[in-house]
Amino acid sequence: MNLLKVGLIGVGGIAEGRHIPAIQNLAEKAVITGVSDINVHRAEQIAEKYDIPSVYENYHEMLPHIDAVIISTPNKFHSEIAVAALQAGVHVLCEKPMALSTEECDRMIQASKESGKILSIAYHYRFMKNAQAAKKVMLEGEIGEPLVIRTQGLRRRKVPGWGVFTNKELQGGGSLIDYGCHLLDLSIWLMGNPVPVEVMGSQYNLLSRTPDQVNLWGEFDYKTFEVDDHVTGYIRFENGASLLLETSWSANIKDDVENVSISGEKGGLDVFPFHLNQAKHGMLLNSEASFIPGDENPGNPQAENFVDCCLGLAEQVVKPEEARMVSMLIEAIYKSSLTGSSVKLDYRKEVESQ
Ligand SMILES: NC(=O)c1ccc[n+]([C@@H]2O[C@H](COP(=O)([O-])OP(=O)(O)OC[C@H]3O[C@@H](n4cnc5c(N)ncnc54)[C@H](O)[C@@H]3O)[C@@H](O)[C@H]2O)c1
Repeated sequence: MNLLKVGLIGVGGIAEGRHIPAIQNLAEKAVITGVSDINVHRAEQIAEKYDIPSVYENYHEMLPHIDAVIISTPNKFHSEIAVAALQAGVHVLCEKPMALSTEECDRMIQASKESGKILSIAYHYRFMKNAQAAKKVMLEGEIGEPLVIRTQGLRRRKVPGWGVFTNKELQGGGSLIDYGCHLLDLSIWLMGNPVPVEVMGSQYNLLSRTPDQVNLWGEFDYKTFEVDDHVTGYIRFENGASLLLETSWSANIKDDVENVSISGEKGGLDVFPFHLNQAKHGMLLNSEASFIPGDENPGNPQAENFVDCCLGLAEQVVKPEEARMVSMLIEAIYKSSLTGSSVKLDYRKEVESQ
């Protein structure tokens, strides 16, 4: 079997920490042959450290030499680079969020359809052992139809102090588009992708705009902080289910919290840590998992699924239409927060018209 030739565009923290080791673990199927970054010095350092043969200042020049690419640039560039890669006949794994708007997501999906190449988004929470276990339990009907979902990704004081995470133009937002997107994606996937009909949201950033910051993830300038650091959202679905979302980089809470809690018609579950909650045999029963199989590092199965999809060996776990849905909901939460009104969605009509 020919090795899949993989390139990387944007080789900062996540490319080095997650994607490069994960692809290099798959040496029997794939090889990293090139890297590109607007910071050429950084690209050269990475190429030397990880024994990658080619460095390209302009990513367009790399595309004819690779089969697949992983895009890990700031969010603003996801769409334009993904479209260029797909149009050049290259499979794409793009970092989350898929893009800054649903319009940009649509362009990516269109380019993928026209080229017949894979487009996937790095929503790696789905590959976590607990998430896979929860999905299995749900598919086996153990808790029945989901009714109420509580989604929380709360950090007490962890504004990312590196890169461009507090720059609205380059990232499109803060805690919601950067962190909440993972939990939102996981929740909707676990629910079986129901159709949303109405969204409300509120966003805050007062805590990150005050002097004398105490921040656990590096330093940032409170005077230029322009994105959200705490967001609440409420999503109502066509099937009657509802989802309560809360996410933060900065909040006056006792501890960080990360969980998706689903109350279904026959039972409920918590994903982190995994719990199954049931009313059965005349009792209230709580079960916890003492062993869940799988890789501790979700970056590995994520890379393997992408490579296998490119080689025609597997079905995509994260489909672009699902990642687009997350972007659509994020857009609606921000819009609702700005307008002070709920946002009605006509998703079915939108899909039918495409
Ligand atoms: N899946 C996750 O959990 C996760 C975690 C962290 C970051 N991310 C995502 O990955 C992306 C990058 O984040 P990061 O933490 O690695 O940031 P980073 O700042 O560490 O790295 C970004 C890199 O992209 C380069 N770059 C900027 N503009 C570019 C362009 N137009 N073309 C090519 N290269 C360009 C920068 O020079 C830098 O080396 C973001 O979209 C972020 O949301 C995802």
